[in-house]
Amino acid sequence: MKKTITSKIYLDYAATTPVDSRVLKAMLPYFSEKFGNTMSWHSFGQEAKEALEESREAVANLLGAKPQEIIFTGSATESNNLALKGIALANRDRGRHIIISPIEHACVMESSKWLESQGFEITRLKVDKYGLVSSDDIRKAIKKETILVSIMHANNEIGTIEPIEEIGKICKEKGVYFHTDAAQSFGKILIDVNKMNIDLLTTSSHKMYGPKGAAALFIRKGTKIEPLIHGGGHESGLRSSTVNVAAIVGFAEAARICEREMKKEAQREIKLRDKLINGVLKKIEGSHLNGEPKKRLPNNINFSFPGIEGESLIMQLDFLGIAASTGSACSSEKLEPSHVLLAIGLKPEQAHGSLRLSLGRWTKEKDIDYVLEVLPKVVKRLREISPFKR
Ligand SMILES: Cc1ncc(COP(=O)(O)O)c(C=O)c1O
Repeated sequence: MKKTITSKIYLDYAATTPVDSRVLKAMLPYFSEKFGNTMSWHSFGQEAKEALEESREAVANLLGAKPQEIIFTGSATESNNLALKGIALANRDRGRHIIISPIEHACVMESSKWLESQGFEITRLKVDKYGLVSSDDIRKAIKKETILVSIMHANNEIGTIEPIEEIGKICKEKGVYFHTDAAQSFGKILIDVNKMNIDLLTTSSHKMYGPKGAAALFIRKGTKIEPLIHGGGHESGLRSSTVNVAAIVGFAEAARICEREMKKEAQREIKLRDKLINGVLKKIEGSHLNGEPKKRLPNNINFSFPGIEGESLIMQLDFLGIAASTGSACSSEKLEPSHVLLAIGLKPEQAHGSLRLSLGRWTKEKDIDYVLEVLPKVVKRLREISPFKR
């Protein structure tokens, strides 16, 4: 089974994306001639400050938010930490109860665990076999002491899109803050923080063709929140640190491109995604698609192949020039079955045999054809040598 194409095929866009060349071009001057500190009063500083505020506007536009409601951070992990801990600390006199789903990213799961150790009560709701949270369950779980509901917009492993508009409506009715982690959906599907009644929303630049080291947290005006990083008072006092202007300018350019191209890009990706899903389900016996078949990210595919180890599959595919993943890039080093796949009801041995393929801006139809050619052969061979073979 020889690799028949010359360049490698990257199908791990959910882990991170390459920086778009248009984004890189916009960033470059901010490393050298436009290097000022946004807090300086001279013209270098003012030039940087202007770029920062223009960037804030671009990110806000993609969410239907006001620029003053955007706080730049260094990563979605940081935004999620700020959202959960910042709301908890600022509102603990009102109540100490927080609701999350069991399929949140590790940074929400771990922040919640830490808050639990500090005396907060965390309710982890159930999800159905597709990973969907029930808005009825949210309504029932909210009590007098509830201060925050945090449910991700789209899952990073299985791509399921949660009913966040319904959840936002319930939270608004009940007077509870609603945070959503949109690291995987921002720039890929439409988000309107007002229509969806979202109070806090996490985004990430490196998941949408911007650079690493930039992200944002939308915080609705009037929200009571404590900073986690104290210092010179940057970002309205919520995130002190000299601002990473070049990365933020790149993030904003990536957001502008997504705003213009998102709709077409999603249509193109959905076609490729569905071709790959249908092809694999047809060609590989016992294969199973994880996640909601329709309410899923345009670029996400997640399969289980009983009888094989996901890690061996990834290594074989890499050898054949295909970069894929078993799940989240952050948890895949632990070699433990994914908490997301277990939460949707997979047995540990099924969860171990999973494969995530995430498509992106440069995925071509011939890449999909190549995967459809080699994946069935690799799965067959691994099943033949598997110790799980029946
Ligand atoms: C849903 C989700 N939230 C948060 C993160 C963390 O993002 P970052 O790498 O920007 O810290 C990721 C990254 O995989 C993610 O997919």
